Amino acid sequence: MNQFKIDETRCIQCGECATDCPAGVIAMQDYPVMTDEEGCIRCQHCLAVCPTAAVSILDRDPDMSIFLKGNLPGPLQMAALIKGRRSVRRYQEANVPADLLDELLETAWHAPTGVNNQGVLFTVVRDRTVLASLRQEVHARVEKLAAAGGLPEGMVGRYLSLVLSAWKESENDVLFRGAPHLLITSSPASAPCPVQDAHIALATFDLLAQSRGLGTLWDGIFMMALGLFPDLTRRLGIPEDHLVGYAMVFGLPAVQYHRTVQRGPARLNVVK
Ligand SMILES: Cc1cc2nc3c(=O)[nH]c(=O)nc-3n(C[C@H](O)[C@H](O)[C@H](O)COP(=O)(O)O)c2cc1C
Repeated sequence: MNQFKIDETRCIQCGECATDCPAGVIAMQDYPVMTDEEGCIRCQHCLAVCPTAAVSILDRDPDMSIFLKGNLPGPLQMAALIKGRRSVRRYQEANVPADLLDELLETAWHAPTGVNNQGVLFTVVRDRTVLASLRQEVHARVEKLAAAGGLPEGMVGRYLSLVLSAWKESENDVLFRGAPHLLITSSPASAPCPVQDAHIALATFDLLAQSRGLGTLWDGIFMMALGLFPDLTRRLGIPEDHLVGYAMVFGLPAVQYHRTVQRGPARLNVVK
């Protein structure tokens, strides 16, 4: 089932795979053995922790993993990424190269999920002409609703009115900020932590995309529109049994930031 295999020519019998297994389903005999296939949560800690690449699970070749030593970003790089990530609201009129997009999605999908559920779905607009037609569609829907007096009171109605007037008066796209791509995360409602999983995956994509020179923007305005038109979620192909996490637009930026912002100090509540 989970194809737990030990290369006995490499295994040094250190027992790390058994000790680190969060489900406690690996035991040491002469060599490690899987004791409960059903109990395995498929996290691959056994493959990751083995110092000699002797463990294979789920048919994965440990030699195909990225070796961690020497390949992790340093503290300055991490701080620059986190403090230097900006909400980008100006984009080039071009698609992100398809192979870069594939790589980002594949890597971001490694974000952790509760009980290793791995149920997060990335719904992505890969081509800017598709987002252009979605832009038209959402504006048309909002316009129709507004004309019928159906925009809700409060913040959502106020924001969507502004979106509509900006679009009609000057084709100023407050909805997607002129971005070429859209990414929406969702997760099965039955997953242990569906909304958290979806948010973590999108936050991971955000930092990863910015580390590769792309611009990103968490799109609360589009989320408001999505909330008003539930059939749009189905139309975008998001399964009915999924909860939507959040939406993000992204693309090649038409703006460059040169330094980090300086926030803080962080709000702390120290427990004694
Ligand atoms: C959940 C969330 C929703 C957001 N929605 C929008 C949005 O709809 N439109 C927009 O222009 N910016 C949006 N933003 C961007 C915030 O305004 C931005 O993060 C904040 O001003 C700080 O700027 P920075 O991201 O460049 O540090 C959103 C940010 C978050 C975290």
